[in-house]
Amino acid sequence: MSIANSQPFRPHHLDPDVRPSEADIESVLLSHDQIQNRVAELGAQISRDYAGKDPVFVSVLVGAFMFTGDLLRNITIPCSLDFMAISSYGKESRSSGVVRVMKDLDESVESRHVIIIEDIIDTGLTLNYLLENIRNRNVASVKVAAFLDKPSRRLTDVKVDYAGFEVPDEFVIGYGLDFAQRYRNFPYVGILRPEVYGGK
Ligand code: IMP
Repeated sequence: MSIANSQPFRPHHLDPDVRPSEADIESVLLSHDQIQNRVAELGAQISRDYAGKDPVFVSVLVGAFMFTGDLLRNITIPCSLDFMAISSYGKESRSSGVVRVMKDLDESVESRHVIIIEDIIDTGLTLNYLLENIRNRNVASVKVAAFLDKPSRRLTDVKVDYAGFEVPDEFVIGYGLDFAQRYRNFPYVGILRPEVYGGK
């Protein structure tokens, strides 16, 4: 297909006839542009902080997939990328604190500088588990880059070294974040109507 002759891109999720799940969104919290600008800043900051350290990014699937893609595009130093998949909420909207590794790293991270990439830190229970898991692999260092931080809900004292945005205590979706596996494809972050997940 010729790019010059192609039609303007019209994302299907903006068309309510094609994408009725848009109606499940109460409001847009972070626009696509806001997200892109902030992720570029984080990428520049991490690139400066890790110059000469050849870090390995550990992306936590599935929620962090979109953040990982955009963040890595903004990393300008040599680095590598690996993935871990862990059990998530399923159809529940709140953390159980029970974490199960569904897919482990492909490569050893021993003696490496690790940066965990997470979608959102809510209670912090998942991150707490991951930090312990990674530290047990004799890494040189481990830090955390989280797209969103919801500090008001914290149940454990975990530090987020690189946070994209602080968000209020609302259930948010989009840009990788789901409810019951839906909405991950939205290029912005929206607040989900509580009726949808049976919340407040
Ligand atoms: P935590 O263990 O309570 O910190 O929860 C972390 C995980 O719960 C995240 O990686 C998300 O997958 C999920 N999560 C927490 N809050 C939200 C939300 O507002 N929307 C979507 N997923 C969430």
